[in-house]
Amino acid sequence: MAENTSKKPGASVPRHIAIILDGNGRWAKKRGLPRTAGHAAGAETFRKIALYCRDIGVDYLTVYAFSTENWKRSDDEVGAIMRLLNKYLHEAIDTMERDGMKMRIFGDVTGLSPELQALAHRTDEIADRIDGFQANICLNYGGRDEIVQAARRYARDLAEGRAEGELTEEKFGSYLYSAGVPDPDLLIRPGGEQRLSNFLLWQCAYAEFYFTDVLWPDFTPAELDKAIEVFRSRDRRYGGVK
Ligand code: IPE
Ligand code: IPE
Ligand code: MG
Repeated sequence: MAENTSKKPGASVPRHIAIILDGNGRWAKKRGLPRTAGHAAGAETFRKIALYCRDIGVDYLTVYAFSTENWKRSDDEVGAIMRLLNKYLHEAIDTMERDGMKMRIFGDVTGLSPELQALAHRTDEIADRIDGFQANICLNYGGRDEIVQAARRYARDLAEGRAEGELTEEKFGSYLYSAGVPDPDLLIRPGGEQRLSNFLLWQCAYAEFYFTDVLWPDFTPAELDKAIEVFRSRDRRYGGVK
């Protein structure tokens, strides 16, 4: 078995890891399967990686599962992804307390079906009772959309007397889906593309980026260990000088 470097005593792990779950379609195509089979395999990988993150002491994992732009895909593919999400949320509702996993949905849930909205709501209620490792699933999520929605909510609060004083970065951050969650330290994109595709635009200001050609369904704990090793070798200066 490969040495588990992330579990070395004393070795630090990033507090918050963000992952763009990309490459499901190509994974399926390589096997002569429909793209939806890739999404099903990707959901399994998410289960494994989330538990692994919890076990090695990561505090927050945020994954990009469905973007505000992914509605452009065929009805068949979108329908299959929504069915998988439905199934996943049902399971999560039953297991998150047992697994010690606080699950949150980031994104514009009003754009989802009433059933998914109800599941997201139920997930939130349960999450409120759980302390510890937090997994955020970005659904109907867009970084620009998040910023615009936050600006709208802030303007409303200002007009209605619920907000006052100068708007600061900190205050603005409290209007984002990620309110209360520290910024990601490490952003991983499997699947070979090297772009953000509208993910966590505000929050990734100082994230370390790690790209790999491995397709998301093939991603393993050992791949995560590799990303964490690379992260450890980075010199984070935040604009300062060392
Ligand atoms: C990521 O995999 C999952 C979603 C965007 C929903 P893709 O479906 O984008 O897979 P590729 O990039 O086509 O291989
Ligand atoms: C990003 O992947 C969105 C998710 C993984 C949910 P895409 O496959 O949609 O991104 P592009 O089209 O390659 O930029
Ligand atoms: Mg893709």
